[in-house]
Amino acid sequence: MAKFNTIGVLTSGGDAPGMNNAVRAITRRAIDNGIRVMGIYGGYSGLIRDKMRELTALDVANIENIGGTILYSDRCDEFRYEPGMQTAIATCRRHNIDAIVAIGGDGTFRGATDLSIRGIPTVGIPGSIDNDITSSDYTIGFDTAMNTVTECLDRLRDTCESHARLNVVEVMGRDCGEIALRTGIAAGAMAIAIPEVPFDEEAAIARCMKAASEGKRSMLVVVSEGVFTAEGKPYGEDLCKRLSAAWKAGTFCAEPKFARLAHIVRGGSPTLRDRLTATEMGAFAVDLLLEGKSDVVVIEREGRLCAREITSALANDKMYKKKLADGALDKFTAEQVAEMKALCELRTADIGRLYDIHLSLCMGK
Ligand code: F6P
Repeated sequence: MAKFNTIGVLTSGGDAPGMNNAVRAITRRAIDNGIRVMGIYGGYSGLIRDKMRELTALDVANIENIGGTILYSDRCDEFRYEPGMQTAIATCRRHNIDAIVAIGGDGTFRGATDLSIRGIPTVGIPGSIDNDITSSDYTIGFDTAMNTVTECLDRLRDTCESHARLNVVEVMGRDCGEIALRTGIAAGAMAIAIPEVPFDEEAAIARCMKAASEGKRSMLVVVSEGVFTAEGKPYGEDLCKRLSAAWKAGTFCAEPKFARLAHIVRGGSPTLRDRLTATEMGAFAVDLLLEGKSDVVVIEREGRLCAREITSALANDKMYKKKLADGALDKFTAEQVAEMKALCELRTADIGRLYDIHLSLCMGK
């Protein structure tokens, strides 16, 4: 079993409900194994600026139901460059921090890998409302965010039904359409636009016109923030403006309204799923360090937690998002590349299957 004196824990990137449960689990699992824990405040910036303090078991009591992150978060540009990283390493040495658990998304994992390469063992935990870490079936915060979006959609449905309106609703997710797709299905949206599937606007409008002519009063169109017009404008808002003009001209069936849920979706008390997953992932991350693992990210696959090398997880993400640089796969074996491709195919098939269900339920096939 690897020996550690002190481990650091930080949260970085967009906050996500459940991060606090992970912080609590990491802290208590480590203390239970005789390890000191330093809470690093404000992500990698906190490491650079030496913003940290020791966390006791009591410090992480009663945070199970609190949204956001008690350790605060940041998107730290300075940490991308060598001087920033060296300052961070010096801070770790000064506090005898001999390992770090970093909770966040792909940017956080890039930072974790940089630390491991420079001699500080690290384990990453996927924390992001977006569910956009290709290697993991789940990222902490996704369930809470989807529940919040679904509640908002239900509320918008009520007022749309009263006024015979259509609401175009833009939801977060960066370049991942998971939140939009799943909540759109859950709330019975007439149309869902996500980056992963080409959106047939003409068919969607025809569907709305037909449904309205048959007596449907309320309609929801859910658009992921990662969908843009050819000119690079946010698609949802642009669509709503065009539908508004058509409605005023008498050629569209319902008065359209636009809502951008934005950061509302990131706040709030974590759901049971997020609390439990975050707790399990936090404890597992400490166990991985004790087993001597480093430069790995905790992932969930088919209901079980396991570890995956950060570099291969990041490459898999890039492959899925078709952003692989030339030669990026050279360091991986043919077997690893085949596994990455299989995972991308699985993710694409899952999205396709759900999108197909959506289309058939709103009679769009
Ligand atoms: O990655 C989480 C996320 O909430 C994305 O859905 C969104 O695009 C982004 O963060 C917003 O970031 P910021 O809080 O920096 O505006």
